[in-house]
Amino acid sequence: MRSKVTVVGAGNVGATTALRIQSLGYADVVMVDVVEDLPQGKSLDMLEAGPVVGSDVQITGSNDYAESADSDLVIITAGIARRPGMSRDDLLLTNMRITSSVTQEVVKYSPNCIIIAVTNPLDAMVQNVYETSGFPRNRVFGMAGILDTARYRTFIAQELKVSVEDIQALVLGGHGDDMVPLVRYTSVGGIPVTELMAEEKIDQIVQRTRNGGGEIVALLKEGSAYYAPSAAITQMVEAVLLDKHRILPCCTYLEGEFGINGLCVGVPVKLGASGIEQIMQIALTDDENKALQSSAASVQELVDVMREAKASGS
Ligand code: APR
Repeated sequence: MRSKVTVVGAGNVGATTALRIQSLGYADVVMVDVVEDLPQGKSLDMLEAGPVVGSDVQITGSNDYAESADSDLVIITAGIARRPGMSRDDLLLTNMRITSSVTQEVVKYSPNCIIIAVTNPLDAMVQNVYETSGFPRNRVFGMAGILDTARYRTFIAQELKVSVEDIQALVLGGHGDDMVPLVRYTSVGGIPVTELMAEEKIDQIVQRTRNGGGEIVALLKEGSAYYAPSAAITQMVEAVLLDKHRILPCCTYLEGEFGINGLCVGVPVKLGASGIEQIMQIALTDDENKALQSSAASVQELVDVMREAKASGS
């Protein structure tokens, strides 16, 4: 029997992700959204592409979570997206309320699923979904590191005029302006990037990576990135459904790893059928560690704001 994946939020990120999963034929897909008829219309349109792309996957849309029952994997993209001039943090309390209510429904209908959270501000939303779900930490994690790494790899490949496939890289920390691209772990066909590019150029690329989401928002004017984000989500879906044991940067709840306790932050993990199978602890230099701790502190600030809002009932 095919696996079942539910995508909550049939907007740009959710619908593009659903389409990618359908095209690959990995799972039957259910799209759920609050907007009446939107997930139904988009899913029917995708279903009708099946004969052309050769996919027998069933894809349905609903405004009711009953349709999502017994999903193996649920991807939460519901929420509002950024507009020019907004930071991811400006979305915090609105998206906190949305992801809380979505998570309650998801848990009710799919108590054994794995949840991938995508809504921004990413790390704070993963924390909210994780805490609301009551699931073990291996079953709730977030997509950001693969996207940030993909942006970083794209810029390096363009600069060196080499294949994107030959760039290996790692980005740690929160999905914010203080994310931590690890230059020391960046290589091009096995050659350290520092051998191939001047420090100044690498610094420019690191900075462009940090602003990668903002660069797209400024160009789109309405909404934020979704082609690269949905590709990154699909890579995580593939790692889980095909039990690939991939080593990928994901946002996960840390319990002392990297000196961070009780907070969701991006780190390298091993991803397979049970979700996060292992957190890959690596030794960091003092500077790298300082940057990671500072990024974690930014996430903690948002988590504290969410806690205060919940405590005051706002
Ligand atoms: N339940 C289900 N769906 C909801 C809810 C809810 N409570 N609230 C909003 N939605 C839906 C909207 O109706 C919309 O269709 O979520 C969808 C969001 O889609 P877009 O506005 O197109 O936003 P998108 O670009 O997909 O981004 C979604 O992912 O990358 C992040 O920052 C981004 O937080 C944003 C999220």
